[in-house]
Amino acid sequence: MFKNVKTIVVLVLWSSFGLNAQNKVPVYLDDKKPIQERVEDALLRMTTDEKIAMIHAQSKFSSPGVPRLGIPENWMTDGPHGIRTEVLWDEWDQAGWTNDSCIAFPALTALSATWNKELAALYGKSIGEEARFRNKNVLLGPGVNIYRTPLNGRNFEYMGEDPFLTSKMVVPYIKGVQSNGVAACVKHFALNNQETNRNAVNVIVDDRALYEIYLPAFKAAVQDGDAWAIMGSYNKYKGQHCCHNEFLLNDILRGEWGFKGVVISDWGGVHDTNQAIYNGLDMEFGSWTNGLSWGTSNAYDNYYLAKPYSNKIKNGEVGTKELDEKVRRILRLSFLTTMNKERPFGSFGTKEHADAGLKIAEEGIVLLQNKNNVLPIDLSKTRKIAVIGENAIKMMTVGGGSSSLKAKYEVLPLDGLKKRVGTQAEIVYARGYVGDPTSKYNGVVAKVSLEDKRSPEELTAEALKVAKDADIVLFFGGLNKSDLQDAEGYDRTELGLPYGQDKLIAELVKVNKKIVFINISGNAVAMPWVKEVPGIVQGWFLGTEAGNALAAVLVGDVNPSGKLTFTFPAKLSDNGAHALGEFPGGDEVTYKEGIFVGYRWADKQKAKPLFAFGHGLSYTTFEYGKVTADKKQMTVGDQITFSVKVKNTGNREGSEIVQLYISDLKSSLPRPIKELKGFEKISLKAGEEKTVIFTVDKTALSFFDDKKHDWVAEPGAFEAIIGASAIDIKSKVSFSLQ
Ligand code: BGC
Repeated sequence: MFKNVKTIVVLVLWSSFGLNAQNKVPVYLDDKKPIQERVEDALLRMTTDEKIAMIHAQSKFSSPGVPRLGIPENWMTDGPHGIRTEVLWDEWDQAGWTNDSCIAFPALTALSATWNKELAALYGKSIGEEARFRNKNVLLGPGVNIYRTPLNGRNFEYMGEDPFLTSKMVVPYIKGVQSNGVAACVKHFALNNQETNRNAVNVIVDDRALYEIYLPAFKAAVQDGDAWAIMGSYNKYKGQHCCHNEFLLNDILRGEWGFKGVVISDWGGVHDTNQAIYNGLDMEFGSWTNGLSWGTSNAYDNYYLAKPYSNKIKNGEVGTKELDEKVRRILRLSFLTTMNKERPFGSFGTKEHADAGLKIAEEGIVLLQNKNNVLPIDLSKTRKIAVIGENAIKMMTVGGGSSSLKAKYEVLPLDGLKKRVGTQAEIVYARGYVGDPTSKYNGVVAKVSLEDKRSPEELTAEALKVAKDADIVLFFGGLNKSDLQDAEGYDRTELGLPYGQDKLIAELVKVNKKIVFINISGNAVAMPWVKEVPGIVQGWFLGTEAGNALAAVLVGDVNPSGKLTFTFPAKLSDNGAHALGEFPGGDEVTYKEGIFVGYRWADKQKAKPLFAFGHGLSYTTFEYGKVTADKKQMTVGDQITFSVKVKNTGNREGSEIVQLYISDLKSSLPRPIKELKGFEKISLKAGEEKTVIFTVDKTALSFFDDKKHDWVAEPGAFEAIIGASAIDIKSKVSFSLQ
């Protein structure tokens, strides 16, 4: 029966191992063992079919685990502003659950406008808890694509135009999310700076702009934030789709940065099996969006990384090395998330989360203009407040594409104001204009219908009547989440406000000069009436607590302390991409402005912006001392410290965001006039003074030398510039690098 003695020995050993093994935990399940060992052990136990199953979707947002081994499925969720409602297995439509209404957090533009890293951590922790509670182990966010043009429909999901600021804000967000045993999936890697032709456009960008402007936030996410996942973008770079892009994924992400996490495709972003095998992608999602009603019975089998891949393995066309690599990375993700026994349980729709959202919203709101101290509203002297504009009554947690939410509740601006003002003053509302009356989006139905059949003339007449004898007029306008506004899939068509708002504002200022424009948007807009409207507030998309946050700032319960993270150009042609006619391109778009994005372009062209990067006012005032440096010269291995005193010279507590820019006075390659290299948000009581200290090393002085393919700090003269914004420069100090 047994061919030789060796076989008998093996069998004896095997049976005794089997006995012992009854009490023994397999290595992959033993959480005392290093993840690497557990991954290898699990991998050894898996069949090729099980591996193939793991690397592509089985539903809209999930992919299989290994049921035989007790390895759970992976469940993804949008991201980045709240946990997306449950959708049907195979379709985008809502599943109709009644227990999936989330807390909607402020959009990432609002978070970045706080310039507060602690709030980024709070945001990440809170949204991570919501994801965890809903049993999602990958949050599809945050988004860190750079604000190249104000027309990009998805800017509201990102963190502005500056790579340094975005890098600093993204790291605590990721750590907060991942402290819940939920992976942050940073998106969209890379160069996804427009929606027009997003699935096909090939971005042509020079290496300097790539490394200095478009990649730093991703690099920080990977290296400082230790993000466990990253999402490829829809567009192409060097002619290859970014979800399977040799240069971005193999060379840069894994090669240069040492990324150990999982690369997930954007939904429908995979186009080729061979490229998907070899060019760094790990998981394919969304290639077929409606697998049950068209295509084959299980469309997922036809994904590029499903049968087409296993067939290639079977017929010997490709080996299994790459497959194993992908599965290793996905197993690691499982051990860090679903199989991490220590992870907390999370919580969902809580007051604590709503309060976190409120705090972020309040700190993110930016006071752009406050002539004659029109704000805050002094309720003791106010009899009647006129509220005008559709955005005072329109839900903004819905719409806009994949970030649309089913929020547990959303406090609309008008309701927030009414609640706060109570009986202290009369509030009268007039719609003023009809923009998008849709009150239904992906299964979410607004409580109040926004249908309004009145003509623009009738609406204007009503608004003027209401405004005329009011003590103050609050105009809630801006954009919304409808297509061609702030929304995924489309870009805006103009910098100007839609729906005739400019005309209406021009009429309103004729009847009442005390008017405040609250811009609800995630983008810059043109303001031809800027001189006539004394108060301007950037009100963002603020989520569940929007109305309460806005009311708190408008009446002065909260002293505004947000600052802009992107430039409001005076006109579209003051933006580099538009000045050079390089937007949106056709099959290709060339980033001809190179490194000169946002304020870097405005500085170079000496184009005075409508509102500058870093700008934001307070109800108090701050006085800056003169910046000093601890040395005149530094060497390459050295650090240099700058100090500046800032004093609150007003009569109420407030926070100021102190900005450090570095200017390279002479360099072998063109450089921006200045670049943000430090910021600090400080809170000061009335009369209080603090010293703000910035310590930098050569990284703050470096540029990316495309010839050397490396960062270089060139010896020579530099300036440290302290600003309250990119154009409100307080003082400078010179130093040199030896
Ligand atoms: C978006 C992603 C999103 C995904 C899943 C895509 O269309 O670009 O940001 O995470 O859909 O909803």
